[in-house]
Amino acid sequence: MSYLETTAQFYSEVAQTPEVGLCCVQSSPLQLPELRIPCRMQEMNYGCGTTVHPAELANQPTVLYVGVGGGLEALQFAYFSRHPGGVIAVDPVSAMRDAATRNLELAARENPWFDPSFVEIRDGDAFSLPIPDATVDIVAQNCLFNIFEPADLTKALQEAYRVLKPGGRLLMSDPIATRPIPSHLRQDERLRAMCLSGALTYEEYIQHLVEVGFGQVEIRARRPYRLLDCQNYSLAEPLLLESLDSVSFKVPIPEDGSCIFTGKTAIYMGQEPIFDDSAGHVLQLGVPAAVCDKTAEKLAASHPQDILITTSTWHYTGGGCC
Ligand SMILES: C[S@@+](CC[C@H](N)C(=O)[O-])C[C@H]1O[C@@H](n2cnc3c(N)ncnc32)[C@H](O)[C@@H]1O
Repeated sequence: MSYLETTAQFYSEVAQTPEVGLCCVQSSPLQLPELRIPCRMQEMNYGCGTTVHPAELANQPTVLYVGVGGGLEALQFAYFSRHPGGVIAVDPVSAMRDAATRNLELAARENPWFDPSFVEIRDGDAFSLPIPDATVDIVAQNCLFNIFEPADLTKALQEAYRVLKPGGRLLMSDPIATRPIPSHLRQDERLRAMCLSGALTYEEYIQHLVEVGFGQVEIRARRPYRLLDCQNYSLAEPLLLESLDSVSFKVPIPEDGSCIFTGKTAIYMGQEPIFDDSAGHVLQLGVPAAVCDKTAEKLAASHPQDILITTSTWHYTGGGCC
């Protein structure tokens, strides 16, 4: 059996008998006014973070959700899209599609604003999405792509890129590893299916996004996810997994490389009221300006006395106050 078949079998099992706490961290899912999440749907929260960022979801976007699970995030996206077919959710596991369909019917009973036609569930997989080129505003996946071997991850990211409209966004949440996961764990297909042993390091994960063509990546959250201990995982040292929430934009890659925003800022502290690097970065004396990691590195190297670079907060939303 291939690891993808093991994965399909595993998710068929947990579609029929929910495994509470399988992937999620111990926090309740995003609550929104007048949104009620049915109990059964909440039990099937198999995501490690969230991909639903309200600020990304203005103007009733068309959302493609890859790997529907129990339908929790499909429902949350439908809250913003609110029109028939506004959310298309694909999953190759028929038991999971059935479970999501049932959960969304329960949701319709508890949420007067929601109609099941708002989420269209299709048979399909991440490697050949049943969607024409450049037709959706948002692609989202939570806790699925980390299961894929690196070459398959590239295929899945290329598919997401293909179906996004220019300027569209890929919203992802996945575990990442704080050091490379040893091969005895990587080869364990069941652990991989459970989102515990396929994770890449942060650098490898971002590199995959950049290689597929995303010109801008923003990190929304990075937090502890699971600890692989020495006893149960045959490790010399415990290995911390983190979950990473990100938004990647289908915009052209600048000549000097993709912009990765991790929450760094640049603060000018020189002799003039304003600093201008003639490359689009204008800093006011003493006022932090959000910069991508590439710009942060360049400014730190070129003006070490005049510019302070703050560390990554791992939370960047693009928002400012003025
Ligand atoms: C870890 S669960 C995540 C479910 C959901 N995203 C959530 O946050 O609750 C992975 C989901 O991906 C589905 N899946 C497995 N292999 C897939 C593939 N090749 N393409 C798309 N979905 C797949 C599984 O059936 C399952 O619904």
